[in-house]
Amino acid sequence: MKNPLMTGSGTFGWGTEYSDYFDPNDLGALVLKGLTLEARPGNPGTRLAETPAGMLNSIGLENPGVEVFEKETVEILRSELSGTHSIANINGKTVEEYVELAKRIDAIPEITAIELNISCPNVKDGGMAFGANPEVAGRVTREVRAVTKKPLIVKLSPNVTNVVEIAKIVEENGADALALINTLLGMAIDIKRKKPVLGNVFGGFSGPAIKPVALRIVYQVRKATNLPILGMGGISCTEDVIEFMMAGANTVALGTGFFMNPNLATEIIEGLNKYCEENGLENISEIVNAVHR
Ligand SMILES: Cc1cc2nc3c(=O)[nH]c(=O)nc-3n(C[C@H](O)[C@H](O)[C@H](O)COP(=O)(O)O)c2cc1C
Repeated sequence: MKNPLMTGSGTFGWGTEYSDYFDPNDLGALVLKGLTLEARPGNPGTRLAETPAGMLNSIGLENPGVEVFEKETVEILRSELSGTHSIANINGKTVEEYVELAKRIDAIPEITAIELNISCPNVKDGGMAFGANPEVAGRVTREVRAVTKKPLIVKLSPNVTNVVEIAKIVEENGADALALINTLLGMAIDIKRKKPVLGNVFGGFSGPAIKPVALRIVYQVRKATNLPILGMGGISCTEDVIEFMMAGANTVALGTGFFMNPNLATEIIEGLNKYCEENGLENISEIVNAVHR
C-alpha cells in the first residue's frame, strides 16, 4: 500500500463516489460497500439520523448482489481503480452464505483481500450477530478461510461483552488481520411523532463521538494479538490517524469523516507527510504501537 489510508465499508460506495473531489487511487486501499450473495433492497423508512458528534445509519446492506458486482463493479476496479487495492466486504445470514460469497470473490483477481463483516444477524442460530458469539465468530472465520487464499480481514463489532476474546478466536481460526471497529448500536426518537427516527428502530452509530471507544478497542486488541489491525471509528483529522496508529493500528479507514469533509483523505495524506518531515520519520509506520513501547 502506498499509504495507510483506507475507506470504511459502506461509506465510500463502490470506489468512485468521491472522484469529483480526489483520485481514489491516492488511497492505500478501498474497502467497498457491504456485499451479499443476493441483491438486497435495504431497510425501509428513514435510514440516517444526525447526532451532535456523529450519525446513526440503518442502511440494511442495500446492494445489487454478487452477480451484478462481478459483471459491473469489477470492470470499474479494473479500469478506473487499477491504481489501488480493492477489498470486498462480505456479509451473510448463514455461514453457508458467507462461504459461497467468499468463493465467488476469491475468483476475482481485481480484489486484493476479503473483509468479513461478522456484525450481521445469524438467522440459523437465532438472529444474534455472528460477531457476538465467540464460537460462531470462530466457525465463520474458519470456514471462509478454507475457501480463499486472499488475505482475510475480520471486522469486529464493538457490541459485545469481550471484544478481545473474539479477536483471539478469529486469530486462532485463520484471520490474517482485524478491522476495528464497526458501528455501535444506537437509536434516536422523534418526540413529535413519538416514534423512533429510524425505520429499523436501531442503527449503527459512527463518527467522532465513537473515537475514544474505537481507540480503546484497538489498544486492548493490540495487547492481545500480533495480527495487523485496520483501525477506524470517528477519524476526522491527521491527529486522529496518529492516535490510532500509536494505539496499535497498522492502517486506518476513513468513514463518516468523508461525509463531513470530502477532502479529508487529501488533507490527511498531506498532514502525515508533514508529520513525518517534522519528526524525522522515513515512514509513518514507525509510529505504530508507540504507546505500547
Ligand atoms: C452509512 C454507513 C454504512 C456502513 N456500511 C457498512 C457495511 O456495509 N459493512 C461494514 O462492515 N461496515 C459498514 N459501516 C461501518 C463503517 O465501515 C465503520 O466501521 C464505522 O462507520 C466506524 O467508522 P467511522 O466512525 O469513521 O464512520 C457503515 C457505516 C456507515 C456510516
